[in-house]
Amino acid sequence: MIDLRGRTLRASFFHAPVCGEVEFLDDALIGIGHDGLIRHVVRQSDPAYEGLLGVAENEETLVTLPPDSVVLPGFVDLHVHAPQYAQLGQALDVPLEVWLDKYTFPLEARYADLAFARPRYTALVADLLANGTTTALYFATVDEAPTRLLADICLDQGQRALIGKVAMDDPDACPEYYRDASAAAAIDATRSLMDYIRGHKDNAAGRVLPVVTPRFIPSCTDEVLIGLGQLAAECDCHIQTHCSESDWAHHHGLVRFEQTDTASLDGFGLLTRKTVLAHANFITAADMTLIAARGGAVAHCPLSNAYFAGAVFPLRRAIEKGIHVGLGTDISGGPSASMFDAARLAVVASRLLESGVDADLPATARGWPGSRIDLATAFHLATAGGGAALDLPIGRFEVGRHFDAMLIDTVAETGGIRLFQPLAPLDLLEKIINTASRANIAAVWVDGTQVA
Ligand code: GUN
Ligand code: FE
Repeated sequence: MIDLRGRTLRASFFHAPVCGEVEFLDDALIGIGHDGLIRHVVRQSDPAYEGLLGVAENEETLVTLPPDSVVLPGFVDLHVHAPQYAQLGQALDVPLEVWLDKYTFPLEARYADLAFARPRYTALVADLLANGTTTALYFATVDEAPTRLLADICLDQGQRALIGKVAMDDPDACPEYYRDASAAAAIDATRSLMDYIRGHKDNAAGRVLPVVTPRFIPSCTDEVLIGLGQLAAECDCHIQTHCSESDWAHHHGLVRFEQTDTASLDGFGLLTRKTVLAHANFITAADMTLIAARGGAVAHCPLSNAYFAGAVFPLRRAIEKGIHVGLGTDISGGPSASMFDAARLAVVASRLLESGVDADLPATARGWPGSRIDLATAFHLATAGGGAALDLPIGRFEVGRHFDAMLIDTVAETGGIRLFQPLAPLDLLEKIINTASRANIAAVWVDGTQVA
């Protein structure tokens, strides 16, 4: 294990602070403080380079990484259902509204048994860290005790995490065995979890944060939506929910409130700078303007959308509107726990939206021109974009930000990357994003501490 706190790291780094642009820091020095924050970022061409290198060598705080490795920012997964990890890769044969009742609510309910929850949550957090996900925005379950356990496990394993107890209280929509007893009970438990996380003895650094989490409009009463909006304002915390995900979910909101989910959530005080809307496939142009005005974010989940949405999220339009966007695996609506897959699928989905999919139509009438994103954009969304969506100083190598990162071994024997000749930096990054597997992730750090 390499602890980088109080040390200077000499390596090559990729990051993408600006959407669509990649920066390669070739043989650079990054100094990391004892608090895990980045103190210096010094390129080889910088006059300060030799001085800093000399100091680190003299103080024996220099850590030099192997030449066949590069460092990337850790991934920020903006949408994970922690309990659904137990059914990852299964149960995707039915539409969302059937899937919830048939598979997902019964599974999530079992987490009330902490002996059931513990090994599953422990494996999830370890696996996500090993996959390079240094920050995750989690939906847990309705029950508070296992949600506290998830926070304990994230703190124990060192993952940066934002965690919500799921609120779902509508007796007409949620099964009796798995719902909040009342709106007041949902709000009280949300507040209680918040106090637990914020006051946790191991959370002085605030690496785990509480999130107000109404599951989605169809499962919540007006009363709970109003109360959670008030609670979020009072406690200045993050908010997450599903928004206009599928035809069914989108129409449910339209029929009930005669407006889109985005407008309804805004009316409840649930659309703020700290809100992450999962999916948002059916948002209108006006919704996009509203989300951008509030500073809210969308968690784009391209793999899950292929199963449940019935449409492709207009990612390029959302980016051009100035909305904060990041990527989510949506475990287990998306059957992969890797943000590499989320980045790959974001590119693929955008290409299908651009070309269209119906071969019976002429090519000129088939798709939406100008919809594609490139891999550099996907890399940005998976890292710096996710950080900006959460309004946290993560996802890029800059002074004052957290050193959350992964080491990619480009020549790992059992990894997916095969290099037959030296590649130019951008080609190398493309190769990494498209072909890296877990075996290529040689180390993962959160706040400079090695966590995988
Ligand atoms: N909408 C409400 N709950 C869920 C969920 O668990 N997964 C997905 N993909 N959509 C939802
Ligand atoms: Fe989801």
